[in-house]
Amino acid sequence: MAKELRRIGILTSGGDAPGMNAAIRAAVRNCLKHDVTPVGIRRGYNGLIHADTYEMEASDVSGIISRGGTMLYTARCEEFKTPEGVAQAVRTCRYCGLDGIIAIGGDGTFQGASKLSAAGINTIGIPGTIDNDIGCSHYTIGFDTAANTAIECIDKLSDTMQSHERCSVVEVMGRAAGHLAVYVGCAVGAAAILIPEHPVDFQKDIAEKIIQGRYQGKRHFIIVVAEGVGHCNELAQRIKEETGIETRVSILGHIQRGGSPTARDRVMASRMGHMAVEELVKGKTNEVIVYLDSQLKAIPMKEAMKMRKKLDPYMYQVAYDISL
Ligand code: ADP
Ligand code: F6P
Repeated sequence: MAKELRRIGILTSGGDAPGMNAAIRAAVRNCLKHDVTPVGIRRGYNGLIHADTYEMEASDVSGIISRGGTMLYTARCEEFKTPEGVAQAVRTCRYCGLDGIIAIGGDGTFQGASKLSAAGINTIGIPGTIDNDIGCSHYTIGFDTAANTAIECIDKLSDTMQSHERCSVVEVMGRAAGHLAVYVGCAVGAAAILIPEHPVDFQKDIAEKIIQGRYQGKRHFIIVVAEGVGHCNELAQRIKEETGIETRVSILGHIQRGGSPTARDRVMASRMGHMAVEELVKGKTNEVIVYLDSQLKAIPMKEAMKMRKKLDPYMYQVAYDISL
């Protein structure tokens, strides 16, 4: 089967995530090991539609394992959501001789990947997003690094909050999901964590906790808010009014998406990139590489896209119980 596979295209799509480069590197190197030509596709599905591709060599991916971002660039491509866009991308695949595609990204990227598979292009997805909101995999590329970056920033904030005996309201990324906020909140000892999945009672869960904490001798407070909840300035104002504590707002923003990937992101992304090539070489298509039950495996895309990830209620409870 390996004989039939001559060229594999690799693309990154949607929001970038630290570790995507490690996945690209692993895919490129494993292609070469199988005597398959790896082809870089720039700017996600845009590159596929406009044939913005180039043959990659082992040296092209030298030195990128430690770099955040994606060397193939990423983009959101509305055109690919149309049947004409997909048809044009398929024509590019035929024209460039791409027998397989590896698409690294989130849920949206997988929707696109399944359309390519349906059109006859063997395609494998790899989950990459700092939000960790992909139902089919407990792990997504970039989450670990983003969490560590946010923790490092909040530790710095804690120093100054402590000196001034203030409260810090910190917004972390996560438009629709609170996985990052809960993980980070637990790791920094947040007094409260606000996420889209779990409403909180301002008086009981924030104001009274702060007042009681102060009474017990606690001098500063960290409140972690997921981006999807927002309204950090209003929250800070309310905290000041209800507790009398000086409060400052910090939006961590895109800083969380950059930086050198952690060991976990480098290793997991490398394994996923390697496995994606193995699957294509075996002739597989329409699959996603996932981390489930402490194992890395390939599962059908159709099944993967039906899976939903719930926030771990125990994790949230732990963070809540040990907050003050
Ligand atoms: P993510 O992959 O991180 O979820 P997006 O939702 O922005 O990010 O999706 C990335 C890209 O995947 C989109 O810009 C588009 O090119 C492609 N995509 C998303 N949804 C679809 C869809 N329903 N059909 C085809 N392509 C899609
Ligand atoms: O990668 C996911 C994510 O980080 C979300 O948490 C955030 O809302 C979004 O990307 C922002 O993306 P952009 O600024 O690229 O539109």
